[in-house]
Amino acid sequence: MNPFSKPRRQVLIALTAIALGVAAGCKPSSSGGSDGAAAAAGGAGEPIKIGEFASLTGSEAAFGQSSHKGTQLAIDEINHAGGLLGRKVDLVSEDNRSTAGESVTIVKKFISREKVVGVLGEVASGRSLEAAPVCQAAKVPMVSPSSTNPKVTEIGDYIFRVCFIDPFQGKLLADFAKRSLKAQTAAILSDVSAPYSVGLADFFRQRFTAEGGKVVVEQKYASKDKDFRAQLTAIKAANPDVIFVPGYYTEAGLVVSQARQLGINLPIFGGDGWEAPQLIEIAGAALKNTYYSTHYSPEAKSAKIESFVKAFQAKFGGETPDAMAALGYDSAMVLVDAIRRAGSTDGAKVRDALAATKDYACVTGKTTLDAQRNASKAAVIITVENGKFKYLETIEP
Ligand code: PHE
Repeated sequence: MNPFSKPRRQVLIALTAIALGVAAGCKPSSSGGSDGAAAAAGGAGEPIKIGEFASLTGSEAAFGQSSHKGTQLAIDEINHAGGLLGRKVDLVSEDNRSTAGESVTIVKKFISREKVVGVLGEVASGRSLEAAPVCQAAKVPMVSPSSTNPKVTEIGDYIFRVCFIDPFQGKLLADFAKRSLKAQTAAILSDVSAPYSVGLADFFRQRFTAEGGKVVVEQKYASKDKDFRAQLTAIKAANPDVIFVPGYYTEAGLVVSQARQLGINLPIFGGDGWEAPQLIEIAGAALKNTYYSTHYSPEAKSAKIESFVKAFQAKFGGETPDAMAALGYDSAMVLVDAIRRAGSTDGAKVRDALAATKDYACVTGKTTLDAQRNASKAAVIITVENGKFKYLETIEP
């Protein structure tokens, strides 16, 4: 957390305050973002702006809210510890309402009007895929906290992420199904409207069949669907050992509860898209015998996790951070670390520094960005017991 002892920290805060005060004297306000020239030129004393686009409302609000809180905590800690390159960091956040099309508009505005030096976002791969080409074209580095679809960073050399990718996640889920759930046959029920879901289904299928398993039935739905009984009836008829639902928590929760209503008591499992307290609100007791993989568990022991959980709880009324919160925090820290090492907010220099990220101590584990601008990290498997998420195991890459 805070590397400084208390008296030292107070001095630093005071110095920062003086520096900011001087800047404020020179220029009354920078919050409107209308005077981008000075900021773009890196005017000393001007805050450094980082843009964050997130699903703060709508069907994946749990993702956006959580990630946003982690990001806010990181920016607070950075500012308390004296800021970045002697300047304060301003986080400019905007809500895309979990809808398609909004993220492009938001990120264009961040770049042209707010003159952000970097962009953070998104959780959902589909929306990261929308915004990434805008950042790439403008040569503004973008760091996705938790989009796992491989195509996101393939958009170009300015696009990074701090999480593992779905070829790894699909493989570990297939292995989990075979090894721990003893499955020979599987059903897949995927969301055709989410690139994340389609990709994860593919990577799972590849590995499961390569290892001798058989996918006996595949059914599809689209985001915002509410009734999955037709698909579940077809799945029941095919009599699989397990059901894989690579989707997001709103639909996954309904799938699980409708499956149980139809008398399907098989193991049902998904990927990180399941992770939200809302899953339990939606499906409750039906979640018995369900599992999902994700990026982090607050129950896993490490000094970094413990101090992060403590700081997060102190800031957000005792709330325990989930994987999106941890990755939101990590994404901001990795971007700031790169700007600090670059010694500059210049897009190309920050890009180079991001690409050189090595063994950076993230909450979600040591982070090295590879030549494809991806991170390679452990995953955890979670189950639900008595209405609570429970950590089962860690799977190393
Ligand atoms: N990995 C998911 C995606 O790419 C998003 C997600 C991340 C969901 C972390 C939950 C937890 O769309």
